[in-house]
Amino acid sequence: MIRKYVFGKMIETEAVVLQIQDEQLSQFPFFSTDEKSFSLKLEMSDNDKVYGLGEAVRGINKRGWLYKSKCSDDPSHTEDKNSLYGAHNFILLDGEVKFGLFIDYPGMITFDVGYSSYRELKITLEDFNCEIYVIEGESKLQIVKEFRRLIGTSYIAPRWAFGYGQSRWSYMNADEVRAIVSFHKENQLPLDSVYLDIDYMERYKDFTINQDAFPDFQEFVHEMKEQNIHLIPIIDAGVKIEDGYDIYEEGIRHDYFCKKENGEPFVAGVWPGRVHFPDMLHKDARKWFGRSYHFLLEKGIDGFWNDMNEPAIFYSEERLQQVFLQIQNYSNQNLDIQSFFSFKNLVETINNNPEDYKAFFHEMNGERIRHDQVHNLYGYMMTRAAGEAFLELQPEKRILLFSRASYIGMHRYGGIWTGDNMSWWSHLKLNIQMMPSLNMCGFLYSGADIGGFGGNVTEDLMLRWLAFGIFTPLLRNHSAMGTRKQELSEFEKLPVFRNLLQIRYGLLPYIYSEYMKSVLNHEMYMLPLSFVYEHDERAAQVEDQLMIGESIMIAPVYEQNARGRYVYLPETMKLIRMKSLLDKQYQVLEQGVHYLECELDEILIFLRPGKILPLSKGGMNMEEVDFNDLSFEVFGDRAYYKLYQDDGISKQYQAKEEWKNIVYENAVIITEK
Ligand code: GLC
Repeated sequence: MIRKYVFGKMIETEAVVLQIQDEQLSQFPFFSTDEKSFSLKLEMSDNDKVYGLGEAVRGINKRGWLYKSKCSDDPSHTEDKNSLYGAHNFILLDGEVKFGLFIDYPGMITFDVGYSSYRELKITLEDFNCEIYVIEGESKLQIVKEFRRLIGTSYIAPRWAFGYGQSRWSYMNADEVRAIVSFHKENQLPLDSVYLDIDYMERYKDFTINQDAFPDFQEFVHEMKEQNIHLIPIIDAGVKIEDGYDIYEEGIRHDYFCKKENGEPFVAGVWPGRVHFPDMLHKDARKWFGRSYHFLLEKGIDGFWNDMNEPAIFYSEERLQQVFLQIQNYSNQNLDIQSFFSFKNLVETINNNPEDYKAFFHEMNGERIRHDQVHNLYGYMMTRAAGEAFLELQPEKRILLFSRASYIGMHRYGGIWTGDNMSWWSHLKLNIQMMPSLNMCGFLYSGADIGGFGGNVTEDLMLRWLAFGIFTPLLRNHSAMGTRKQELSEFEKLPVFRNLLQIRYGLLPYIYSEYMKSVLNHEMYMLPLSFVYEHDERAAQVEDQLMIGESIMIAPVYEQNARGRYVYLPETMKLIRMKSLLDKQYQVLEQGVHYLECELDEILIFLRPGKILPLSKGGMNMEEVDFNDLSFEVFGDRAYYKLYQDDGISKQYQAKEEWKNIVYENAVIITEK
């Protein structure tokens, strides 16, 4: 049951796809305002839990912290932060009454989830113009399902995008990419894609190729395709200002860039130096920017990652000028406590300065809107630009697309990756905890930079991260320039990496089937335990184990030097201890808490009673995986699984009646249509 309340006149976000009748505002249960802002307040009892908020710091249960919905380019994802790259305004209260709230509002929202006062949830908006949906259901999962029905079916990635992807900022030329592909091949390490970071472009200009590094790009894409490798280039939001550069000139000619108050295009600094931001909120500009992807599509590219689309601003031209002027006042001075810190602050606050987000404007349906009022829509609309263009340019085929900044609604056009994390154990844990929250908000095709983006990875962290990453739909090893290299060739325990990747490819029939079912049924692929074991109070305390689809639970190890961990089993389960696809040991474990050893070369999968886990024989890339030659792990005398299959690339998704029934009875497996 969904109830909709309309306050004032919201700037249209198109997050919602269902038509729902407005309720009377006098019926709104959580009303409270003060003069400056618009707040909803509700009282929580001590035991209430709060879920949702998608991409955010801290645990699965969000209670006890203050979160701000504000797409932020901040590479330091420490727990004292309030915002990351996404703005996902869905929250689910789990107490005596259970309900979900979706606040459709494109500006900043503060979610004070028992931070100022433990018993109060206070949601504050900057103005009164929003639409609020109150969603009720019998269980948490039911509420999520209703919400997801409201916001529409999630983006569906091509199946090959579930293979292992290797990335680095940046592979500087075609030979560096070739070397990775050969290394994987020679060492039987599965691989499906290699990512091209900003240096594939000519001086960081979108929709160009650096000819020195990639002399015949189209031919190179083809050469890689022959080996079943997909190249995935990055696209940045800012368009370099440069005479003679077609995208820049087209944007100027058609007046497609965001403008300052005086009507001139806004100038910001990003990778290429000075750029303009395409007005992604302007219909025609969006169409134009989306169609520009054609440049790469026609060269055989079939996947993209959209970046710096909060949008990230290193500096605005105006601020830079001011800072240069002011900085002169500090030279030859005896800098004391005040002057030193104001000097430092002057420089440190150049990038992503809130004032700069108030200095440019969009044109939405003929109306001029200041950026900060619609800030959270920018990355969404950039990804929508691409998604809509793909529908037009290659309607039959699925194209891989994911973004850094996002808002709910974008989940229909692409997935997300969780941006610039660090090679820290705490960020492996954050990855585990964030995945189910992203799923609640519709971002099913998602994942983190495996091994961590910033900082220096160690082999044990890489192994443990991969042991978790093999369950996330997006499985990409990505790292920053200047950090210790993180390609698998850098490590000693190659056979263990090989086994882990082989397990991923073995699990693919299950992972893909569960992912597709979650998309098509508006369900979750990665769930907190309490979303399956609704009334198990102990399960609700578990923050570091996840249910993956309907058959299995995982309990990743995420601590340095740990050789095992405590695991809570909400019911009796069958532990499958896997070292490789061929090396498996089994143990039935009773409901309760167990200490289980888990060395660096193994993973633990817990199979639920009455459930089946289908496995393939693996492969070196997705093309080699035989989705029809399956074996089955079974727990119980009778077990059942509904298997989803399709060709993985077209948009001919199977109807429910066509899903295969896999039945285990009297010690035999029967597969029926
Ligand atoms: C941003 C992205 C990162 C990328 C880098 C260079 O920091 O988040 O993934 O490698 O830019 O393009």
